[in-house]
Amino acid sequence: MISAEQFRFFVDLVKSTSGISLSRGKEYLIESRLNELARSLGMRGLDELYRKAKTHMTSSLKEEIVEAMTTNETYFFRDIHPFEALKKHVIPEISAQKKDKLDIWSAACSTGQEPYSIAILLAEHFPALINGRAKILATDISKKAVKKGAEGRFTQVEVNRGLPVTILVKYFKQQGAFWIVDGKPKKIINFRQMNLLSPMVGLAHFDIIFCRYVLIYFDQETKKQILQKLVKSLNPGGYLFLGATETPMTLPPGIKKQKFGRAICWKKT
Ligand SMILES: C[S@@+](CC[C@H](N)C(=O)[O-])C[C@H]1O[C@@H](n2cnc3c(N)ncnc32)[C@H](O)[C@@H]1O
Repeated sequence: MISAEQFRFFVDLVKSTSGISLSRGKEYLIESRLNELARSLGMRGLDELYRKAKTHMTSSLKEEIVEAMTTNETYFFRDIHPFEALKKHVIPEISAQKKDKLDIWSAACSTGQEPYSIAILLAEHFPALINGRAKILATDISKKAVKKGAEGRFTQVEVNRGLPVTILVKYFKQQGAFWIVDGKPKKIINFRQMNLLSPMVGLAHFDIIFCRYVLIYFDQETKKQILQKLVKSLNPGGYLFLGATETPMTLPPGIKKQKFGRAICWKKT
């Protein structure tokens, strides 16, 4: 069983590196995920991983530990309402004002289902944008998730979660047991590993930011800091979408809440 000292060590490491807060009661989760990681690295188990991390920590080991503690749950067109809002209100409004280009950021994109859903929506409803005017940056702290996203290779179970069959056969091609994203939706997405805690230097400004189901893992102070950074990265008139359960307690200055049907988002004023 994980000791109190090991628990504290891994909790501090994960919090300081990624912002993810693992509270008391998460001992079992840490123990099972890190035991699995230890074995995949050829170690006997958590005790050996702990000793190695304490005495010979490397940046790649730190990355593996943090990565093991992320939750990458995602699916295509998750919650649907934000995608309806994009289609009916947000994209028509932004494209009417800004004819030249559209910059979208899927921050904490996991294995890519979210940015691919946005790209497919563009391909289906905004052909002029998918033909070179729209770009999607897709980032996540998890190297493995970003790699999988960039490959655009999904299992049958993954495509069954949220993708209508007509869309599946139109934008994916089957290769053995997998479905591979094909054509335009793939070309406009740029996948990159990125930690939301890191300074966002050199990052472009965006018309739309999706940052969904990641703030729930952070404490209030970290949430506040990340929200401020996200708002800073929005163009005036741009929209921020968070997860349905992630309404911030206090809003950073410069944004106002907006409802489109059943979708809630925040507009930069
Ligand atoms: C539950 S998934 C959400 C995926 C997608 N946004 C969605 O709503 O379907 C949360 C993602 O946040 C990522 N994450 C956690 N901490 C992060 C950080 N500090 N910076 C960037 N991504 C992070 C995890 O790796 C994980 O892929």
